[in-house]
Amino acid sequence: MRRASVGDTLRAGWVLASVFAQGPVLRRSRMVRFLAWLDADRRGYRTMRRLRWKYRDGLVRLRIPGRPVVLVLSVAEVRSILNGAPEPYTPASREKVAALTHFQPHGVLVSHGPGRAARRRLNEAVLETGHPVHRHGAGFAEVIREEVAAAAFDGELTWDGFSRMWWRVVRRIVLGNGARDDEQLVRMLNTLRSDANWAYLRPKRDGLRRRFEERLRFHLDRAEPGSLAGLLATTAAGPETDPAGQVPHWLFAFDAAGIAAYRALLLLPAAPDARADLAYLQAAVLESLRLWPTTLVLLRDSTGPVDGAPAGSAYVIVPAYHHRDPDLLDEPDLFTPDLWLSGRGADNWALMPFSRGPAACPGRNLVLLTTGLLLATLRERHTLVPVRPLDPGASLPGTVEHTALRYAVGAPAPGPVDLGPGLADPLGVVPVSSPSERTAPARPRRVPGSG
Ligand code: HEM
Repeated sequence: MRRASVGDTLRAGWVLASVFAQGPVLRRSRMVRFLAWLDADRRGYRTMRRLRWKYRDGLVRLRIPGRPVVLVLSVAEVRSILNGAPEPYTPASREKVAALTHFQPHGVLVSHGPGRAARRRLNEAVLETGHPVHRHGAGFAEVIREEVAAAAFDGELTWDGFSRMWWRVVRRIVLGNGARDDEQLVRMLNTLRSDANWAYLRPKRDGLRRRFEERLRFHLDRAEPGSLAGLLATTAAGPETDPAGQVPHWLFAFDAAGIAAYRALLLLPAAPDARADLAYLQAAVLESLRLWPTTLVLLRDSTGPVDGAPAGSAYVIVPAYHHRDPDLLDEPDLFTPDLWLSGRGADNWALMPFSRGPAACPGRNLVLLTTGLLLATLRERHTLVPVRPLDPGASLPGTVEHTALRYAVGAPAPGPVDLGPGLADPLGVVPVSSPSERTAPARPRRVPGSG
């Protein structure tokens, strides 16, 4: 593997610094706006492309003292590294462990060995990774309908209003109706996530983490039927699994799903006759994630020596650069839902919004289901027109700061909107859980740590 020159290491270092500065675990809005103003992401893609032309074998080792760092530049290498999880490329990289242990020390993503395998199995079982429609999908659709109906947007949809509604949906789906209004739980999580952005540079707040876990445990103990917590309670798990320890990641990752859906609204044509069936809306979410990935960087550490790089080398993949590669996609800077509708996106290893291989996101289908339903429900009830629309024919920006997006909210188009096959009852084909399994409103109880 070739070593980058000092100049190229500095150039690559600037790209990586601008990626990390955005906040890999919790976005730093002001920094994202500043980097968007500099058009840092697009400049970064250009730098990476130049490096690929120069260092033709797809991997280049940067001259960083103290830590071997390898930049992954070709899709062939992306494929072999992501397929090599958890050995010889572990997803539990040193930096990721330092960051994520601030709030999820036993999450599968930062686990090794048999513990990882057991935790992965549990995640897949509860999130129903292999199923396009989760067994509680009908209940989740109902939760989304109720929360969209309850949200008062007052003529304008802002990130604050959207995320308040989305977090209610998320808490009900993950923890059950009894957690609907527990905003404090998410505030605690976000404080820990903001520390996680600094990885080892910020001391751990063990007290806050314990209080967060205690509060979470209170909701999990209810094991509400119809929620993920209910399923978790009835899914077999060995002693090394720590079922409750998997849930902080779910809450954290559902935030990304909300961001992706909110940005997708910017891509969707507002015209009443625009296509709006579930498959199309899910393709829009995938496009939102392709154009503006919520996972800014994929890190792997080698567990043994590979290709002349010592064990413990850090392998860095920047998904957005591959997602916008003009050598691999016809129109990388345009909204192209057909990429996903045609199945070409699924087959293309340059596209990795949910990562790929054995450590790919086990929540992918659940995300597509819930965000697709959310967009369908929003569009059924409202017309949403971006206050600052994108130019449909022009290249889409490299960065979109989601908290700055606003949509004018109007009445839905007169007459029934053609939602396409199946959307009027999108989960009609799926057996709805029996009434006794449906989520019942929980009795109000005191949450630990509340006033
Ligand atoms: C738009 C939303 C989401 C995106 C884009 C996304 C993307 C990803 C990516 C890229 C990874 C790999 C990370 C890495 O290798 O460092 C990942 C892992 C993971 N995701 Fe998601 N995710 C999303 C939502 C969710 C949700 C809602 C859940 C659970 C409810 C979830 C559960 C997980 C878990 C448990 C892992 C770790 C898998 C492992 O290490 O084996 N994700 N996700």
